[in-house]
Amino acid sequence: MTTAPIAAPPRSQVETVIQSFSDAAEKDQDIYPQIYTAYFRRCPGSDELMAHTDHRMRGRMMEEVLMLLMADELSHHEGYLRFETKTHEGYGVKPMMYENLLLAVRDTVRELLGTDWGEVYESAWEGRIAFLGQNIFSALSDNEAKAMGGSSQPSTPPGDSWPT
Ligand code: HEM
Repeated sequence: MTTAPIAAPPRSQVETVIQSFSDAAEKDQDIYPQIYTAYFRRCPGSDELMAHTDHRMRGRMMEEVLMLLMADELSHHEGYLRFETKTHEGYGVKPMMYENLLLAVRDTVRELLGTDWGEVYESAWEGRIAFLGQNIFSALSDNEAKAMGGSSQPSTPPGDSWPT
């Protein structure tokens, strides 16, 4: 069973988010460690869950998170989201941890941009986090429905969305 499709937000929203990442990149700072610091600060229990991970694994995870935030067509990544949310459930990741992670990415970009951050960025990020959050929760619900139907296998991610 799959849930109803989620209406796509305006294209300008994702373009604005991409622009904010591009502005942040110009600050020439290593953004990933800053995101994890912000994330662990705002999300109780997340640092314990990730204590065994090294910077390479954290880097690979953050690449995927940023890919999802900047993906033009999130519908192409439904299978990947179902796969990762199923796998992450096994790691002990709680649903609210996803939103905290996305908010930590936003906070870090906002902090890096300083006075260059404005209302346009604020509202594009708000919309993007809500949209990605809806898709993550839809994936979690699909996994739960599948588990109740007797299958506990994670879905196979489609080739074009599988992390390389
Ligand atoms: C949409 C959001 C997320 C995506 C796309 C994502 C993606 C990934 C990927 C691709 C890896 C594997 C890295 C590798 O070894 O190559 C990973 C590992 C991991 N992620 Fe995430 N992640 C997300 C959210 C989270 C959240 C919210 C947590 C909460 C703390 C979390 C905790 C972990 C942990 C603990 C591992 C290591 C698992 C292991 O021991 O193998 N992730 N994630």
